[in-house]
Parts: sequence; C-alpha cells; structure tokens
Amino acid sequence: MIRSFFSVMALVCVSLLSQAQQSCPVIPLPSQSTPVKAVFPLNDHTPLAVSEPALLASANMLQQQLLQYAGIRLVIAPKAPGYGILLKKVKGDNPAAYSLEMTGTQVTISASGDEGIFYGMMSLMQLVRTAKPKAAAAQVPCWNIADKPLFGWRGFMLDESRQFFGKAVVKKLLDEMASYKLNRFHWHLTDEPGWRLEIKQYPRLSLVGGIGVHGDSTAPAQYYTQDEIKEIVAYAKERHITVIPEIDMPGHATAANKAYPQFSGGGSAKYPEFTFNPGKEETYQYLTNILREVNVLFPSQMIHIGGDEVSFGSEKWKTDPAVQQLMQTKGLNSLLEVEHYFIKRMADTLLKLNSKVLGWDEVTAAQLPAKETIVFWWRHDKADQLKGALDKGYNVVLCPRLPYYFDFVQDSSNTVGRRWAGGFNPLKRVYDFSLATLPVPVGNRAAQIEGIQANLWTETVRTTERMYYMTFPRLLALAEAAWTAPEQRDFAQFEQRLKQHLPLLKQQGIYYMESPKSTPEPIR
Ligand code: ACM
Repeated sequence: MIRSFFSVMALVCVSLLSQAQQSCPVIPLPSQSTPVKAVFPLNDHTPLAVSEPALLASANMLQQQLLQYAGIRLVIAPKAPGYGILLKKVKGDNPAAYSLEMTGTQVTISASGDEGIFYGMMSLMQLVRTAKPKAAAAQVPCWNIADKPLFGWRGFMLDESRQFFGKAVVKKLLDEMASYKLNRFHWHLTDEPGWRLEIKQYPRLSLVGGIGVHGDSTAPAQYYTQDEIKEIVAYAKERHITVIPEIDMPGHATAANKAYPQFSGGGSAKYPEFTFNPGKEETYQYLTNILREVNVLFPSQMIHIGGDEVSFGSEKWKTDPAVQQLMQTKGLNSLLEVEHYFIKRMADTLLKLNSKVLGWDEVTAAQLPAKETIVFWWRHDKADQLKGALDKGYNVVLCPRLPYYFDFVQDSSNTVGRRWAGGFNPLKRVYDFSLATLPVPVGNRAAQIEGIQANLWTETVRTTERMYYMTFPRLLALAEAAWTAPEQRDFAQFEQRLKQHLPLLKQQGIYYMESPKSTPEPIR
C-alpha cells in the first residue's frame, strides 16, 4: 500500500516536472511562456470577438489565417460572449508586445495595437497548426504567454536581380516571415544581371534592363509592374512587414546601363558597364527621377542605395572627361572621394524625399547625416567598418556574411554555394549569433543596433526549390536570434521545437534542409 502510494506520487511529480520543463512550441521562443493544463477546442462554432471596432481588420486576418492553414471558418461575434477568442486592446508602450492567455474556454490576445495583436495571432496560429488540425477542428494545448521582441529590425533580403522568383513566391516568403515575426523585407531589385521594377519615366529600365538572369543574359525580360509592387507592399503591410527597396548605385548598375547607356560611367574587364557616371549632372537628375517613383511605390520612407563594391568597376572614371572635370572643380583627390561625393548627393536627394538613407557598410566613410542613415554591416572580416559606423553615430543593421549570408552553404557536404576561408553558415551558427559574438564591443551603444538580417544572394540559386533550401530552416533560427534574448536561447531545445515546424513548411510546398541524406541539396 505504502509502496504504491509512493509510486503514484512519483508519477505525479514526474508528470508535473515534465510539464514545467516542456518548452513552448512557438518559434521564436516567447519571453515568458507557461503551460496551462487545458485544451482549447477550436472549430467553426468558436466565436471571435474584438474589444473595439478598430481591431476588426486584425480579426479578419485571424479569420483568413485559420481558413488558410486549418480550414476553420470563424464568425466575428457582434459582442464578446465571454467564451471563444477575444482580441483586446490594452495600454502599453511597446507596440510589438502582446500577451496570449488561454483556458479551456477562452483565448485572449491583448496588446496596445494591431502590431502586438498580430504577433499574438501568429503565436496562436503556431499552437493551432502544431496541434495538427483535422476536419476543420483543432484541440489546441493551452499556454499563457507574455512576449516582446529583442530587436526592432528582424530582416531578410532577397536578391531578385540575379534570379527572378515572381509574385507568388515572394508572397509565400512574406507569409513565412510573418509567421516567424520577421518584419523587414529588403528587396534587392537592381544589379548587374537585371533591373526588376517598372519605372514609368524610363520604361527601358525594365523592358531592356529586365532581360537576363545570372548565367543567362538572354532570358526574357522579367520584372515587377508598379501594380504588382503595390500589391506586394500592401500584402506585406497587412503582415506588419515593411518592404525596403534597394536601388544599387553607383556600382552594380550594369542592367540599368544596358537600358540607358548615356548615364554609364563604364566598368572593368570583369565588370563591364558597372557604374553610373558620377561626373555628369544628368546622372543625378536621372537617378533622382527614378528614386521619386520608388519613393511613391514603397511607403517605408527608407530607400537602400547600395554603395557597395564600387571599386570593382570604377577604373574608367580615371579617364572619363566628366569625372575628371568633377574632380577638378570639387577638389576631389581620389576615386574614393568621387564615390563619397556621389553617395552624399544621392543621400541629399533621399532626405528631400523624406526617406532615410540606407547603404552597405562602404557608405560609412561618406559623412552622411548620422540620424537619417542606416548602415548595413556585411563585411564580417572588417570589424573596423562596424566600429566606424558606431563611432560616427549611425544606426546599424547587422548582416555579417558569417553567419548571415544565406548563399553560404549550411552543411560541409553541400557542393554548391559560398564559403569563406572554409567557414560557412550551419543552422547553429545562425541561431547562436548575439551582440556578444561581435568583434567590436557594442557597450553603451546598443541602442544604435537596429537589429539583424539575413541576405540571400542568388548567383548560386537558379531555382525556387534551391532558394527555399538555402532559406529554410535557417530563417527560423534567424527569427529566434532576432526576437528572443540570448540568455533564453538554447540550440538543442530549438532543434526539438523545430521538429514540429518542419511539417508545416512541407505543407506549404517549401523544400528545406534537414539532413544531407533526407533532404539532398538541389544543385540548381
Ligand atoms: C554585398 O554583399 N556586396 C553587400
């Protein structure tokens, strides 16, 4: 009798302990999460209510998500019936913070506005989807969650100049970004192989500049019309994702120069027609006209003007009469000074458009207005670029090649894709990144760090299948590194939670890297 009493008690203790240790299946891991011993039955008859009419658009987004991912069709109740799902506005000073409270009869998502409510809904959707809904119903394990992000900038960059994936694929990426609470989509739309957005004043940019992809300069023109851009920007906005266009200049301008050669500053043997001509006054007017349209299409009030790797193709500037004239009149002593002059002038254009100036870390030396500039630190081997950007007071997005270039391979067995001195970017490296791993102590300048971002360049990515493979599941590790405080992160536990998410990716037709055997690398 006594023995059986003790064994029952031991069992109870073990099960309570395992519940306490159970980790919340939500990715990124919330700041606080406690399991509740209850299951919430969700089906077509579950009422959905809002605390005020301003939340009706959010409620509709939850309806759409439940229909899309679980086949459940909720009705918005005219007033909160005291059970079901309630979206509730509360006072708070962090717009991204939310709480999700669940019992067996009531789910309440509270936040100070739409953004926090959206993140609460994304957490709920993950609980619903990992509960494997069937026949328009789910038994959702209950959790109490209080949550807020580590960084305000949680970004992903896609290079669609080198390969063009198109609207449906971009929307699918935005869906996944939103699900994992990433909030900045940096869209690399112009570069050497192709110019991918319609500019009404200069139609040849897309009609001629849009011809070709990396590896095939004759591929038919592919680009986004302005209507498509508007559609994608609106789709992202509904998901609390800001779209930042990149119009790379004065280098990486080959596609534009194919369309309008009169503004070319030439290139080099390896990078022909690589630059815009910084010596011609007409170039500034041309680029300003382009940026005016870009500014209308992308209401983020942030335009990325690249500024990277100009020296790859600026050697013709040494003999170009217009550039030489500029150097004389402005007293510029080197091509680097010409580059900085150009960047400063284009930054002035952006400021007149009320747009922030975003650029790769090469722009750090160009003396831009500190408060209006965001520098993207990408050269992981150049710690001084990061230090310089911080010292000059710029805000910084951290996207160092190691670990945040997703064109780098993720497993030693991968055969296509980049490495750096043998180094590459496995899931754990993406996951483990934090300010403490930086080569420069950030100290009391942490407020200048906007956040982190992964960049997928597509020279080695010819197909959508390979694009997904390079992106997933690393995107989920990035999301957790961007959202969850480093002291709460644990890679082994993340890998366990990830197992519940891989089937969700598969359901969406996304091919991901799991292991070299089970998910072979697509080589194109
Ligand atoms: C870059 O990788 N050129 C920013």
